[in-house]
Amino acid sequence: MDMWTPLLLALLGASRAFGYGYEEHWFTTQVDHFSFANNDVFKMRYLVNDSWWDGDGGPIFFYTGNEGDIELFLENTGAMFDIAPEFGALVVFAEHRYYGQSQPYPNVSLSDPARAGFLTSEQALADYADLLTHLRATLPGAQASPVITFGGSYGGMLAAWFRVKYPHVVQGAIASSAPILQFTGITPCEAFGQVVTRTFGKEGDMCPRVIRKSWDAIDRLTADQEGMDWLSDAWNLCSPLNSSQLTDFKQWLNDMYTNFAMIDYPYPASFLSPLPGYPVKVACSYLHDDHGNDDRALLTNIYDVINLYFNYTGAADCVDTGSQGTSSLGDDGWDFQACTEMVMPMCYDGVADMFAPSPWNLAEYTAACRARHNVQPRPLMAPLLYGGLNITGSSNIVFANGLLDPWSSGGVLRSLSDSLVAVIIPNGAHHLDLRGSNPADPPDVIEARRVQREFIGVWIKQYEKVKDRNAFNAAKKRW
Ligand SMILES: *[C@@H]1O[C@H](CO)[C@@H](O)[C@H](O)[C@H]1NC(C)=O
Ligand SMILES: *[C@@H]1O[C@H](CO)[C@@H](O)[C@H](O)[C@H]1NC(C)=O
Ligand SMILES: *[C@@H]1O[C@H](CO)[C@@H](O)[C@H](O)[C@H]1NC(C)=O
Ligand SMILES: *[C@@H]1O[C@H](CO)[C@@H](O)[C@H](O)[C@H]1NC(C)=O
Ligand SMILES: *[C@@H]1O[C@H](CO)[C@@H](O)[C@H](O)[C@H]1NC(C)=O
Repeated sequence: MDMWTPLLLALLGASRAFGYGYEEHWFTTQVDHFSFANNDVFKMRYLVNDSWWDGDGGPIFFYTGNEGDIELFLENTGAMFDIAPEFGALVVFAEHRYYGQSQPYPNVSLSDPARAGFLTSEQALADYADLLTHLRATLPGAQASPVITFGGSYGGMLAAWFRVKYPHVVQGAIASSAPILQFTGITPCEAFGQVVTRTFGKEGDMCPRVIRKSWDAIDRLTADQEGMDWLSDAWNLCSPLNSSQLTDFKQWLNDMYTNFAMIDYPYPASFLSPLPGYPVKVACSYLHDDHGNDDRALLTNIYDVINLYFNYTGAADCVDTGSQGTSSLGDDGWDFQACTEMVMPMCYDGVADMFAPSPWNLAEYTAACRARHNVQPRPLMAPLLYGGLNITGSSNIVFANGLLDPWSSGGVLRSLSDSLVAVIIPNGAHHLDLRGSNPADPPDVIEARRVQREFIGVWIKQYEKVKDRNAFNAAKKRW
């Protein structure tokens, strides 16, 4: 850690304090939109900024909240604020049910399937449709406003699927880093880890090679208690390793490398963890390849990377292998979703990727979900409901993907029609395009944002034409 870190963090803290402004609102909606067996209602939170809104039919820019506190996504989606003035848009961020403060059953939302079972993407989309219908009906000047949805990651999947399912509510969608194809039978399970490896290999193959070697070193060292004690000590682990934790421990390490690739932004940011610009490059600069056969030397070197991810602020007393250090993301809720309809198969072979070999095993995955949540995963549910790639009956969606981002493995990387458009950002990480503009932005993300603005303009014009025609037909009273 260098001496500038405290100053840097003070600046980051300051920009957060002066972050984007909004007003908080609440909307009451059904817990279950699709049956009449449960008539409970709950309050969902949404954040609004109307400073630039043309209140005479100006568009609504609507962020379809994903798995976390909505304020986290608002702070990391400056692109909507950047372009709202140009379009005279109302900016709305809706919080996803069961995350942040939008809890159908406060304190016990996830306690059993009878309550947690309403945590699904299709219920969330119905919440958003209900909220938008309410806004259009009650906000003077919004009755005929076109709606453009925005979202990143799972939020991007929701933005796209919202347009697919509710074309009468949504006129167009910007779906960023949206892995709508990361499902059984559509994307091979090994693709994801290969993208992480490619991102770590962009400065040369030494970095993925050292990481690949580390898994065997961990296995050898943790074969006995003395080695486990050494590792617990060398890596400053909060609780000492024991043999029953080794699988989770390696998964935690795997997740850390994955997160590095996801947030490989060109400037310092603190989306999943506070990190310097291009953190993968920094991490790789710490690694070297001359440990010979010394496992301890190799793993001591790997700790430099762990320390970068979990201790960039210098404030960590110990390393908690039970977490990725993100409190605003609703990991428990996402775990439930991943155990029900969001089953995204992943596997690793240690050859084409830098991870410990680990096949995809649905039987094991199912058993773990049964044990944790008492639910049975349905891997084919999302393809059944949303169609995978078969969405050419829809229109007006831009799919943007950064190629540094592992989730691009399940993204739409080729245009499906004139109005289902793929935009590739070779130097972009996870939804970099949705972040506020920054002097360090690479030209490809600037271009991606330009294309997105152009399509938004086209969709709004298209909608105005239909609106005029409808008004004309209504005036003729032909029935
Ligand atoms: C909208 O956001 C801008 C930029 O952060 C801020 O200056 C303004 O006060 C906000 N408006 C509202 C109504 O919160
Ligand atoms: C339930 O949650 C609320 C806030 O969400 C909190 O104030 C309250 O103490 C919690 N109750 C229990 C019994 O945990
Ligand atoms: C292993 O460590 C975990 C976490 O510290 C603990 O919960 C568990 O009881 C330990 N198991 C054994 C066999 O010591
Ligand atoms: C975190 O960084 C600080 C400052 O370099 C250091 O003193 C501390 O030991 C580190 N914590 C861990 C868990 O490595
Ligand atoms: C998409 O269509 C193809 C060709 O009809 C079909 O084989 C495939 O199963 C469909 N995929 C989904 C997810 O519906």
